[in-house]
Amino acid sequence: MNDISEKPISLRTARAEAFLYCTPATLDRVRAGDLPKGNFFDTARAAGLLAAKQTQHLLPHCHPVPIDGFRLDFEIEAAAKTETPTATSQARTGVRILGEGRSVSRTGIEMEVLTAVSVAALTMYDMLKPVDKNLEIGGIRLLTKSGGRSQQVAERPAGLSAAVLITSDRVSRGEAVDGSGPVIAELLAAQGVEVTESRVVPDDAESIRAVLAGWIAAGVPFVFTSGGTGLGPRDVTADVVRSLLEKEVPGIAEAMRRFGQDRTAFAMLSRSVAGSAGGTLLVTLPGSPRAVRECLNAILPGVLHARAMLGGEGHGK
Ligand code: MTE
Repeated sequence: MNDISEKPISLRTARAEAFLYCTPATLDRVRAGDLPKGNFFDTARAAGLLAAKQTQHLLPHCHPVPIDGFRLDFEIEAAAKTETPTATSQARTGVRILGEGRSVSRTGIEMEVLTAVSVAALTMYDMLKPVDKNLEIGGIRLLTKSGGRSQQVAERPAGLSAAVLITSDRVSRGEAVDGSGPVIAELLAAQGVEVTESRVVPDDAESIRAVLAGWIAAGVPFVFTSGGTGLGPRDVTADVVRSLLEKEVPGIAEAMRRFGQDRTAFAMLSRSVAGSAGGTLLVTLPGSPRAVRECLNAILPGVLHARAMLGGEGHGK
């Protein structure tokens, strides 16, 4: 199973369909409720819902996901219709099974919905086989899914760039090697964001202010700092950034601390701030590579959406 522990939680939805093809005479008996094994749709719906809840036990790579909402609907189709009909589905009679699931989770709920429509179809097959020897299950497919990183990636603007400032007395004196800058570059590159400027300065307010003010004046879209968010006497990065902000965006730092605190209690000790100055969005990350990875996992790619807002394009929703 994939490790999804670093994924943030978001609302996931999925819709899927399946078809149980049968003869027109069988459909007449379904409509009339004239079947030897009893209530056709209620039984299929119950089977599908129970199957959705079993998905994690049936499919080896599926994580357990909370099922926060689920429904199964059925349509009797004299000539089966679907949202984008295939030649087969258009030509045949049967029952369309439509499943829809919702989950606030780290991973998607599409396998639960596909499992539900499949088992509902199998249940229908089982209930109709005494009266129809030409049954067939087909057209099992995902119709839509939403939520998660891939959706945010699809919605973000292309060609973004960022500047990275490492604030550390020891790295600036050459006594330590910076491990945070490469993590920032790696995680931004995965979102298609290029780090175009990178600097290391001591934990000194004036040095930090000079670099950041220059980047803001130059209109760099995103600035990420690393280090100096804690409580040490030389931890001043967060204070300098706060003094430069025109609009603080508390939700960014809240998201980083909330995500971090599920992993280490020390996350509460970071005084990270974020917000805008001119057309630049600034985010202060803690100093350790692990903390940087966790904080960026908490806010990427959603934070990149700020670019459109800063450019006056609204948020498109
Ligand atoms: N946040 C996350 N997500 N993960 C971490 O490991 N480390 C914390 C905290 N925030 C940590 C974290 C620690 S140990 C400190 S001291 C503070 O960030 C401040 O770090 P800084 O002074 O290097 O900015």
